[in-house]
Amino acid sequence: MKPLLDSFGRRIEYLRISVTDRCNLRCVYCLPREPVSWLPRQEILRFEEILEVVRAGAELGLTRVRLTGGEPLLRPGLTDLVAGLAQVPGLRDLALTTNGVLLARQAGVLARAGLKRVNVSLDTLDPQRFAAVTRFGKIDDVLAGIEAALEAGLAPVKINVVVMRGVNDDEIVPMARLAWERPLHVRFIELMPIGEYFTRERLVSSREILERLTALGPLEPAEPAAGCGPARTFRWAGAKGTVGVIGAVTQAFCAGCNRLRLTASGQLRPCLDDDSAVDLKEALRPKVDAARLAKQILRAVAAKPEMHGMFRRETGSARLCMAGVGG
Ligand code: 5AD
Ligand code: SF4
Repeated sequence: MKPLLDSFGRRIEYLRISVTDRCNLRCVYCLPREPVSWLPRQEILRFEEILEVVRAGAELGLTRVRLTGGEPLLRPGLTDLVAGLAQVPGLRDLALTTNGVLLARQAGVLARAGLKRVNVSLDTLDPQRFAAVTRFGKIDDVLAGIEAALEAGLAPVKINVVVMRGVNDDEIVPMARLAWERPLHVRFIELMPIGEYFTRERLVSSREILERLTALGPLEPAEPAAGCGPARTFRWAGAKGTVGVIGAVTQAFCAGCNRLRLTASGQLRPCLDDDSAVDLKEALRPKVDAARLAKQILRAVAAKPEMHGMFRRETGSARLCMAGVGG
């Protein structure tokens, strides 16, 4: 198939799909404490509509899909969507990003429906700290979810750690040890200027994170564990898993950007840091217009900017929210 290229020659092959804007946690860097006004149900794309988008995208050259949220496991019947996606010709990767709270219950059925792998967000190993960062989460639920994912073979299982100075930066080494003992792929993500939580002081650079990891022993560059995301990946000789850093803010990884994001309400976003979006709903309702759908997807690809502006920003952008754009 002809690759889908944007105006900067980047090959676009990866679609992140937010299946709900709701979440059962309120991570400090992602959502405000107070209940947010969620999208009304009829605004949210139905599974059949999501499948139409993915089929159209796959025909244009998309090969990978990731389900996100909000918290995707809150969406009733998600397994049916996974089963539908697993049938789409041309897709070779089907992954899920979750906070893990509901994963213990669902890992097995998701794997049987065709899900290949999961990323679980976990910023700390300390129960009290976990409750504070997520505002009320129970860490045991997430740890049980990670075990269930390993057992269900949703591999490689990746752990996403957002590093915040003064909050969990003292846990970089303890969290990296998970990759030593288990086949886990621990990725440390720079705090991005999204929402009100961000400050320059809280940002720990991927360079500093790597320096602290090297203190555990010499790191060798490793092949990235499935998925060609923006992480730089390393391993220690003898370790079961890998560690990685995602320099979302300090490293301009945009040159390797391969993705589009579909919001729960059917907006296709060219870039995380850009609220311009192409409306796909108008090609889906009242009835599916396949030609228009393809055209709209191509419009979003053409609108991809060369680079985001997050490294320049001193404060968080209030108009952006990870729960809305799907991480
Ligand atoms: N900075 C960095 N990562 C973030 N995530 C959510 N908000 C931010 C932010 N401000 C991460 C979550 C999850 C993924 C979907 O995005 O921790 O791992
Ligand atoms: Fe790509 Fe935009 Fe992300 Fe940069 S910020 S890596 S251009 S989606």
